[in-house]
Amino acid sequence: MIKPRRIGHATFETPDLLKMIDYYTNVMGLVLAERENDRAFLTTQVGLLAIQLNKGDVERCTTLSFEVAPDADFGAMAKELDADYGIKSELRNDSTPGMGAVLTFKDNKGTTIALFKEWSYLGKHLSHYGVGPLKLGHIAWVVDDPQATCEFYQKVLGFKVSDWIDDFFVFMRCNTDHHTVNFIRGQNIKMHHMAFELKDFIHLQNSCDLFGQRKIPIIWGPLRHGPGHNIATYHRNPDDQVIEFFCELDKMVDEQLGYFEPRPWHQDTPQRPKTWQAGKTNVWGPPPLPDFHRNRD
Ligand SMILES: [Fe+2]
Repeated sequence: MIKPRRIGHATFETPDLLKMIDYYTNVMGLVLAERENDRAFLTTQVGLLAIQLNKGDVERCTTLSFEVAPDADFGAMAKELDADYGIKSELRNDSTPGMGAVLTFKDNKGTTIALFKEWSYLGKHLSHYGVGPLKLGHIAWVVDDPQATCEFYQKVLGFKVSDWIDDFFVFMRCNTDHHTVNFIRGQNIKMHHMAFELKDFIHLQNSCDLFGQRKIPIIWGPLRHGPGHNIATYHRNPDDQVIEFFCELDKMVDEQLGYFEPRPWHQDTPQRPKTWQAGKTNVWGPPPLPDFHRNRD
């Protein structure tokens, strides 16, 4: 059984590497850990690799990495992928700083999944500008058939369903976090948004003040979501991708108990995975601006 334990980093192609490095270091508050001609590697202040940028013709997310158990057997995983699902995989070394060999294959929407088990921090107590998130939290995708993608991530990667909104938006977990991937139905298959975890609401407030200083519009929030109950804001980066900052995401601390760690803002007691009704998912906060919805067109 292939079982990701956490998301590692996301790899993007971008036409303007310098502009995106400037955004990730001066607004997002990541640290440029390594730089090559056509590639850049950005970490959080603890040295955790979060973003890889590759120069490319169009903006797009190409790859997501996930850490598997230290004793995971890549050979057995490759056989399982082929025998059970007809998925061809490749064991390779991408010369990603700090990272050993990766087992790569495509998911059902064409994103490369890179499984890794050997890695090291790319620094320690690093100085940063901008917001300075704790970690890359989750990536949401627009897909044509969220049921099919949900099934793929359940069967092939062992993800569990945390919540649905009607039948068009599913939130899936691979560890205690309410969601690490989510899939929403839409026209064009592409990343919907990418989310970074902040420490708390004060940290989120500081990020809003930074948006104010830099004249970066907040296109949704601050709000508290229903599914996941995270407090969140959304903005766009220079590649027009939607970026979320969040804190206080629900946690499934004990899978056997089957409910999310109780919190005062939950309406259900206990709060279990369920299907939410569209239009009634905000606990509090404003609706999104029209600009937020462009990603599903
Ligand atoms: Fe999100």
